[in-house]
Amino acid sequence: MKEICIKKVEGFEVLDSRGNPTVAVKVTLCDGSEGYAISPSGASTGVFEAHEKRDGSERFGGKGVKSCVELINGEISDRLINLKTVNQRKVDEFLIKLDGTENKSRLGANSVLAVSLAVAKAAARAYNMPLYRYLGGINARKLPRPMLNILNGGAHAKNNIDIQEFMITPVAASSFSEGLRWCTEIYHALGKILKENGKATGVGDEGGFAPNLESDEEAIEIIIEAIKKAGYTTDQIKIALDVASSEWYKDGEYLMPKRNKKMTSDDLIEYYKQLSEKYPLISIEDGVAEEDWESWRKLTKELGGKIQLVGDDLFVTNTVRLKKGIIENCGNAILVKPNQIGTLSETLDVIYMAQENGYNVVISHRSGESEDTTIADLAVAVNAGQIKTGAPARSDRTAKYNRLLIIEQTQN
Ligand code: PGA
Ligand code: ZN
Repeated sequence: MKEICIKKVEGFEVLDSRGNPTVAVKVTLCDGSEGYAISPSGASTGVFEAHEKRDGSERFGGKGVKSCVELINGEISDRLINLKTVNQRKVDEFLIKLDGTENKSRLGANSVLAVSLAVAKAAARAYNMPLYRYLGGINARKLPRPMLNILNGGAHAKNNIDIQEFMITPVAASSFSEGLRWCTEIYHALGKILKENGKATGVGDEGGFAPNLESDEEAIEIIIEAIKKAGYTTDQIKIALDVASSEWYKDGEYLMPKRNKKMTSDDLIEYYKQLSEKYPLISIEDGVAEEDWESWRKLTKELGGKIQLVGDDLFVTNTVRLKKGIIENCGNAILVKPNQIGTLSETLDVIYMAQENGYNVVISHRSGESEDTTIADLAVAVNAGQIKTGAPARSDRTAKYNRLLIIEQTQN
C-alpha cells in the first residue's frame, strides 16, 4: 500500500442527539482525501470506561468540549502531521502515547476516538475502498443481525421502568434488510398497541417507546403482542434485555431507583431464570453490576448455557477486563463501544480477543449519538454478527441501519 501522509487535522464542537456538545474531527490527507468522524456519548457510562473530557465551564452546563478542540487543533494536529503516515496502528499507538495516561484522561477518549476514526475514514477514501473493506479486508462479508431497542427505560427514559432496554432481534430472517423490515413492522405495531391502551407513545433516547407500565413483565408481554400483531412468531423474533444493572448497584446491593425496590444478586439471577423460562429471551446485557465479578460467575453458570450474557459496563471494550472475564467465566459475549476505549486499534484488539475465545461480539451505539455511521462498517469489517443501534426511529439511529442497507446492496 502506498504511504500517504496527513496534511490537516481539525477539531470541532458539534451537537449529539441529546443536544450535548461532542467532538467532531476532519482529517485531510496529502492526496486531498478527507475523513470526518464524530464521537458518541453515553448516559449509563461504566466507571471503568476511558475518560470523556468536558470543559466544566459555564457553557452548556459544563459539557462543552472546547478544551478537546484546542488539543486537537494544537498538539494532536502538529504531531500527527509530523508522523507522515496513515497506518492505523501507528496513528493509534502514537495517540495513546501522546495521551500518556491509563484512561486517556489527558486528551480525552472523545478527542482521541474522533481523530482515530477520521484517520481511518480518510485512509479508506485514499485507498478508494468502503470503510468496512478497508478495515476488514477481503474477509469482511457478514451483515450483522440487528438488536432493536423498541422500549426504553432506565437512564434513557423518564418513565417508571428500571430495565434500560427491551430489544427485539430477528433470528430467523434470511437477510439484514428482511430482519430490519420485520422489526420495523413490529415497532409500528407496538406504537399502535400502546396508543390503543391509552399509553404514552413518546420515545426515549434511543428511539424506543417510553410508556409507564406496571412491570418489566408487562413490557415483555406487550412486545410479544406486537410481534404477533405484526404477523410474526416468537420463533422468528426473540427478545433481548439490557438491564444496565450497574446503575442500581451500591454497597453490594441492587436498588431499582424508579420502583424503589431492593434485590440481592441472587434474587436478580433467579428473576432472570424465571424470565428466560417464561419468555423467548435470547440475551441479557449487564444483568449484574460492573464490579460484581462473583455474581457474574454465578449468572454465567446458571444461564450461560442457555442465553447470551453480554458484558457492557463489565468489559468496557477493554482487553484487560475481557481477559479477566474469560479466565473467570464471566459472560459469553461482549458489547463493543469504541468510545469506551478510545482508539480503533484497541477496539479491534478486544473484538479479536473475544472471537478467539468464543465470546459473541455485539457492536453498539451510545445513547448520545450522531449522524456518524462508523459502527455499521465496523460490524461488517469484523463479521461481528450482531449490532445494537436503537429503534428504527430518529436519524441518529436509522443512519446506522441505512448504512447497513446500503452495504448489503452494494457489497463487493
Ligand atoms: P449508554 O447506553 O450509551 O447510555 O451507556 C447504552 C448501553 O448501555 O448499552
Ligand atoms: Zn448496556
